[in-house]
Amino acid sequence: MAEKFTRTLIDETSGHVEVLKEKTRKGAKPWQVWLDAELGLRNYWYPAALSRHLAEGEHKAVKLLGEEILLMRQKGRVFALEDRCPHRGVRFSARPLFYTKETLSCWYHTWTFDIETGQLRTILNEPDSPLIGKCGVKSYPVEERKGILFIFVGDEKPGPVENDVAPHFLDDNAVIYATEPYDIESNWRLACENGYDPGHQFIHNWSPLSLDMGMHTSFGYTSTPADLQETIDYRTEHGAPQGFTRKVQKTTFNHRAEIPLKDGTKKEIILPLARGKSEEELRKVTQIIYEGTVGLWLPCMLRVTTFPQPYCTHYEAYVPKDEKTHTYFQFGVIHTDDEEWADRWLTEEGPLLWEEPVVRGFTIDDAFARKEMQKFYGEEDGWNRERLYRPDVELTMWRKFASEHARGVQTREHAKGHFPR
Ligand code: FES
Ligand code: FE
Repeated sequence: MAEKFTRTLIDETSGHVEVLKEKTRKGAKPWQVWLDAELGLRNYWYPAALSRHLAEGEHKAVKLLGEEILLMRQKGRVFALEDRCPHRGVRFSARPLFYTKETLSCWYHTWTFDIETGQLRTILNEPDSPLIGKCGVKSYPVEERKGILFIFVGDEKPGPVENDVAPHFLDDNAVIYATEPYDIESNWRLACENGYDPGHQFIHNWSPLSLDMGMHTSFGYTSTPADLQETIDYRTEHGAPQGFTRKVQKTTFNHRAEIPLKDGTKKEIILPLARGKSEEELRKVTQIIYEGTVGLWLPCMLRVTTFPQPYCTHYEAYVPKDEKTHTYFQFGVIHTDDEEWADRWLTEEGPLLWEEPVVRGFTIDDAFARKEMQKFYGEEDGWNRERLYRPDVELTMWRKFASEHARGVQTREHAKGHFPR
């Protein structure tokens, strides 16, 4: 079943890569939902902040899929309300007032809301207002798991958070070390595509981790359709994470290339880190990558196994903030029941063996590439003007997959607010 699905996806999307220009003119792309999802996919749980960002009694303003949300922790529990007063539309977070542990008051004209339900509880300067109990702001479902605060953005009834992250991320024995998230000026879809892009490996020749390991990271992966058929595994069942995983083992790591010159000769280019090494030596140094898998999961999470250590899984989420920006969350995860190791991972090993090499020494180059793409895609109609080539078939497969399985598309209308008018 999965194989047939893969075959169909390859057939349908590679054809579109080859004839993209013509299809673009006709306006018929098989990944239209992906094109429409500039602000994100609706009806999913998203990481919004880390637990350590919100101590007791504190608040934090976040923006998810264009929606402005105020997070608050009172009596140990986290609440999330639409950050927009229904009276005159100001943000509560501009000057938040918590006169009690149950309420949030607007700093402008004292409308006071229940932090759990969002209902208007009272108005300090008009306590007998007929509006009381009849109006309010949206209250968002919140789940706090393993040091991460998840918010559900949408109208449907939320399912389990486990379905909206990559597999095994929230397993009971998962030990998650989270680095500080940061915002990148780039649309979230560019981040998803960059993370998974088989052709993007070339940029990691510049990464300090590759240099430290002496690891040439090729001119970009290439795989035949037959290889893809064998190495891609799709998960589309409901009630579980939806996405796909690709085993790297069948990938060709090109480290030699040629540039034809005008005089008919060719200039051979060998990646600096591959020079002077035998094929066997080269294979050995990239072994860790060959053994791993890379997977992309709805709505926006990447999972890379055996990276950068054989026992570690790297996860990252590209959470849409607005059309131009995503928040980049990265997590180094081990799975163990050994409490001592779990403790060491969270205090010494996670920072040294995952955060330092990966966050400071590797994904900075991904962030760089995503920022560089934003102008073209954000301002210059790049989604319609891009000229794709054969390795991009894996990206178009993802676009089509996401278009078929996404629960909904976020729009500017959604971001404008939820309270009844
Ligand atoms: Fe909030 Fe008036 S704007 S009470
Ligand atoms: Fe990368």
